[in-house]
Amino acid sequence: MAKERTSIFFCQSCGYESAKWMGQCPGCREWNTFVEEPVRKGSMKHGVSGMRTADRVTKPMVLSEIEITEEDRMGTGIAELDRVLGGGIVQGSLTLVGGDPGIGKSTLLLQVCRLLSLKGVKVLYISGEESGSQIKMRADRLGRFDANMLLLCETSLETIEEVIQANKPQVVVIDSIQTMYSEGVNSAPGSVSQVREATARLLQVAKGNTISVFIVGHVTKEGTVAGPRVLEHMVDTVLYFEGDRHASYRILRGVKNRFGSTNEIGVFEMKENGLTEVLNPSEYMLNGRPEEANGCVVSCSMEGTRPLLIEIQALVCHTNFGIPRRQTTGTDINRVNLLMAVLEKRVGLQLGSCDAYVNITGGMRIQEPAIDLGIVLAIVSGFRNQKLSPSLVAFGEVGLSGEVRAVSQGKTRVTEAAKLGFTECIVPASCVKECSNVSGVKVIGVKNIEEAIQYVLGI
Ligand code: TYD
Ligand code: MG
Repeated sequence: MAKERTSIFFCQSCGYESAKWMGQCPGCREWNTFVEEPVRKGSMKHGVSGMRTADRVTKPMVLSEIEITEEDRMGTGIAELDRVLGGGIVQGSLTLVGGDPGIGKSTLLLQVCRLLSLKGVKVLYISGEESGSQIKMRADRLGRFDANMLLLCETSLETIEEVIQANKPQVVVIDSIQTMYSEGVNSAPGSVSQVREATARLLQVAKGNTISVFIVGHVTKEGTVAGPRVLEHMVDTVLYFEGDRHASYRILRGVKNRFGSTNEIGVFEMKENGLTEVLNPSEYMLNGRPEEANGCVVSCSMEGTRPLLIEIQALVCHTNFGIPRRQTTGTDINRVNLLMAVLEKRVGLQLGSCDAYVNITGGMRIQEPAIDLGIVLAIVSGFRNQKLSPSLVAFGEVGLSGEVRAVSQGKTRVTEAAKLGFTECIVPASCVKECSNVSGVKVIGVKNIEEAIQYVLGI
């Protein structure tokens, strides 16, 4: 008879399952992420999908006959959050809010609860981290709460389910998933099995009773607590809170959204009385920009549907050691290395013996290749010690032969630049036609980086 398995190994980073321990996870290639978890009898039957057999639809439905009602979405009253959610909270949905400890997840959700409860929505905030009086202290900073806002300090899932069934709230917040535990699972709260089991059960509660559930999940770099990464595929929406803990602004980024577009961001500022929305993030990001420095260029990136102006700074200096040092903040170091190689080869700049530090100010992390041209011009300006016009914005993707390639939504970007008082825009030549009728801005189309450098520095 086959020996019954008593434990299984999970990758804490991606949730990969294995019968034996492994040094490197075949799923995500991370090292030392496997932890042993005891197997609970029957847990695999409905563990991951969260659907019991009884809940499944056994008879097929005619798709065209299924009705959707408009009120399935509920505005939160925080426009930045609504945008990231795709227009409001979808009823019966499960949303995971991840982020480093102390970034402001509890504060944001408490604010959401407050606004919803003032609109007459019944809200239940379940905290496993703070006591009632600690939450009250925080709530007092945020404003007035009314009787629709219920609070429960509890970590047992069984009790939580009972309370939800008894009170029938429309919105539930679980703060945080790492503190919740189910009696049926032997391992400690925060372990992969507990976190998965808790999410699966909350999924049933959410879908079965059309309750919108927000789950808070801490992300720790060390992976000591099961990160919310293992839950991403179970929930409908994943939002990540990013930002420097020492700076006051916070960025809420949609990573997955079954009901809207991803890539949208919401920008907030942490103040004394909670998070406030930043309505014009471009202005915020460019605040305090040095106008007389070399190596500084403003570029424009599209974050979802919104253009965002950011400043790129490059410091290029001779290396004191054999191997040049390259460092970036807010952008991909490999991309910068590639662009420097293109500059060396196509323009003939001797960058091989230079250290380079490239920084996106404001702490934003930008992935879009549209800022390539901005990075190139910042490096050239820093290398030549020549400053660029402070009223200039440059964007465009740079290819390996030094060509400047088209980017999407050129006109939206140029319009955003015009709105903030910029008067010159260097854009890919193929985008000139769509951008040329924005008033107050001179649009310069460039085919390759030589043309762009020629225009800004006259060389
Ligand atoms: P918190 O929301 O508890 O973070 P998380 O739940 O993600 O761990 O922490 C927010 C931080 O913000 C905390 O350091 C205190 C600070 N804060 C303010 O600056 N203003 C406020 O009004 C509140 C409530 C918190
Ligand atoms: Mg918290």
